[in-house]
Amino acid sequence: MSIIGIIGGSGLDNPDILQSPTDERVSTPYGDLPSPIRVGSMGGHTVCLVARHGREHTVPPTQVNYRAVISALRQLGCTGILSTTAVGSLREDIRRGDLVVLDQFIDFTRHRPISFHEGFQPHSPVHTPMAEPFHNGLRGLLVKACKDLGIRHHERGTVVTIEGPRFSTRAESNMFRLWGADVINMSIAPECILANEAAIPYASIAMSTDYDCWKTDEPPVTWDDILAIFRQNAEKVTNVLIRAIGGMN
Ligand code: ADE
Repeated sequence: MSIIGIIGGSGLDNPDILQSPTDERVSTPYGDLPSPIRVGSMGGHTVCLVARHGREHTVPPTQVNYRAVISALRQLGCTGILSTTAVGSLREDIRRGDLVVLDQFIDFTRHRPISFHEGFQPHSPVHTPMAEPFHNGLRGLLVKACKDLGIRHHERGTVVTIEGPRFSTRAESNMFRLWGADVINMSIAPECILANEAAIPYASIAMSTDYDCWKTDEPPVTWDDILAIFRQNAEKVTNVLIRAIGGMN
């Protein structure tokens, strides 16, 4: 039996997916978490679920205490983390409602603590490798779950994480496309970076909710558009998580 962390993104953080749930308050050297951690069972494993933006969605992306989240999941003994996130699509073929199993990120954030290592021990610098930031074993479980459930998905994708909370300008959106990003969000960096620093395998299932603003044949993204697509598709993400965790040893 493993202990798995789930970090739920906007609209994709339903705490009712666990059996026999209890709420745990964990204190960390980095301060408070955006929400209590709901601990329960799923598929024979213990699951620790955190709502990234708080249960009432009161914490904007810049203010999420990513270090406290990862630190708390480490304290609870998590040996893997699956995260969910809503993303805008930067590619025609990544349609609204599609799921993307991310394999790379570009960090375009500017105002967040991005490391646990704020001071080095003498002659012991820490420079964490980040060439393959998403864990391939966990990614494989997410891909398999999408296939088993017959859900339209993309087996890989590069996400660019922006600071937010504003959306991008059209010039930025076009630039991200030229850079090779496939989808855009406001939260994978530094969460994925910190999980790597903490040596906890991390993977993410992203739901495409909009085409950002690079497409000129439709209006630019709004939060209401995103919410509407979440509501229609959230169950897919939940089912993928349940299936993937059920497939773990
Ligand atoms: N999350 C969902 N859609 C987004 C977009 N277009 N930009 C940034 N974050 C998003």
